[in-house]
Amino acid sequence: MLLDTTALNQQRNFFNGHADIWLFGYGSLIWKADFAYLERQPAYITGWARRFWQGSHDHRGTPDSPGRVATLIRAQGAVCHGMAYRITPDVLAPLDVREKNGYLREKVPLTFLGQPDKAPPPQATAEGLIYLATDDNPAFLGDAPLTDIAQQIAQAHGPSGSNKAYLLNLAQALRELGIDDAHVYSLEEQVRRL
Ligand code: BEZ
Repeated sequence: MLLDTTALNQQRNFFNGHADIWLFGYGSLIWKADFAYLERQPAYITGWARRFWQGSHDHRGTPDSPGRVATLIRAQGAVCHGMAYRITPDVLAPLDVREKNGYLREKVPLTFLGQPDKAPPPQATAEGLIYLATDDNPAFLGDAPLTDIAQQIAQAHGPSGSNKAYLLNLAQALRELGIDDAHVYSLEEQVRRL
């Protein structure tokens, strides 16, 4: 483990005293919500772009052969779509452990899109929480040619399964939500061809 952020995240109580919290998922949380939630809604955040720039040494790769998983990069004018879950605060502790390889809780403004068949909710924005891996964490791999990122994803496996399955599951979930994401879909195409 390169940096265990569990204890740091226990101090990052941005929503102290709140009975519920909106958690915004932009990666595996979109397709693998293995926690209890009160409701969920498609939502987006602005000024952030989803990128496969974070190393995974504990889930989708190993210390010797890390995989690559999603994080968010600041990008002016960018919009990152995902899924927002309204959770009770006790849900965060296990997520802190699951995402301990460099991810820190951050507070961000969310905009909700509402349920597909319903009108947008009356309160269409809220402060929410994301798990963010910034470029100063030791597991951060950063940018690389897309072909190299695809190769790495195609080869990596870890205790949670193959890195390829992570990417393909994310691409499928984004497609089902009608979300356009050139970075994810280009990687998907390349990895399928390998
Ligand atoms: C997400 O889906 O938002 C996510 C999952 C794991 C780590 C960080 C973010």
